[in-house]
Amino acid sequence: MERLPVASLKEFPVGAMKRVDADGDDVLLVHLADGVYAIDDICTHGRVSLADGWLEGEGIVCCPKHGGKFDVRTGKAVAFPAISPLRRYQVVQDGDVVYLELTD
Ligand code: FES
Repeated sequence: MERLPVASLKEFPVGAMKRVDADGDDVLLVHLADGVYAIDDICTHGRVSLADGWLEGEGIVCCPKHGGKFDVRTGKAVAFPAISPLRRYQVVQDGDVVYLELTD
């Protein structure tokens, strides 16, 4: 398992979203009040970056193209036309540094 540093909390406040590269995969980090979550950045309905979308309520990311919605904590699609879930990534915080734990 690889632990990859992807963000500093000093530059990534609560309510922010950030697209990062995780060994070639585009991953969306979302900083919520209860922690940082990571899911695939590319919408499962089309080849669109969710980092260009917006957060709604507490933990729902909206796709900028057709308005599909995903639960950031689970990756589950919660609004049509998004149906398929997004992959989730394991996040670890150590001090101000956010890491992704990548499996082989
Ligand atoms: S591309 Fe995201 S909902 Fe269609």
